[in-house]
Amino acid sequence: MTANKPFIIAIDGPAASGKGTLARRLAEHYNFALLDTGALYRAVGWNVIRAGGDPENESDALKGTKILSEVNLNNPELRTEPIGAAASKVASMPAVRRTLVDFQRHFAHNPPTDKDGTILDGRDIGTVICPDAQVKIFITAEVETRAKRRFIEEYSEDGTAKEYSRILEDLKVRDERDMNRAASPLKKAENAHLINTTNSDIEAVFEAAVKFVSSKM
Ligand code: CDP
Repeated sequence: MTANKPFIIAIDGPAASGKGTLARRLAEHYNFALLDTGALYRAVGWNVIRAGGDPENESDALKGTKILSEVNLNNPELRTEPIGAAASKVASMPAVRRTLVDFQRHFAHNPPTDKDGTILDGRDIGTVICPDAQVKIFITAEVETRAKRRFIEEYSEDGTAKEYSRILEDLKVRDERDMNRAASPLKKAENAHLINTTNSDIEAVFEAAVKFVSSKM
């Protein structure tokens, strides 16, 4: 870990795979700065919808990138599935992705002085944004498991079977779009460590990840 070359952890995976939770736990454990790159795309999608635009229209999407700094990335409204869908639509456009590359790379390579490295989670961190990351993790789970997790996150105890089915459908559509787009599709970097969380709780996933990360330090 030198001042010139910070230690970077790249975490990628499909929607609701547990990337965010794992990234937060690892950031705390290693005292690393964390960037949830999905929040950037969600913020663009949110801007487009708030302005009454169409997330599939490139000119509306690019307008959404211009006012990115005005969005509070911690706003819980960004986390809903309709905003996830809008994010996935704007994220399929190369022109939108280009506006976010420098910010993400700069974050990755310039941790604040009180941090010992950086963690970025998203879809293309290990493949495009930080191909030089010392650690790459690809985290995944069966889509039904991911839909159940997102359902509990959104509805706690109050959701209905209909709402679960809608979330499952939305995740399938989003997976399909994220994996098959031409620009930076979601895929495992060749040298990424694969963690399947279908049958593991967060504690087990965290322990497996710490073992892997520590072996690379
Ligand atoms: O939290 P969840 O896994 O549902 O999604 P997210 O990480 O917040 O990302 C929302 C959407 O942004 C994804 O479906 C992707 O289309 C897009 N995204 C991307 O294209 N590249 C990234 N590095 C991060 C997110």
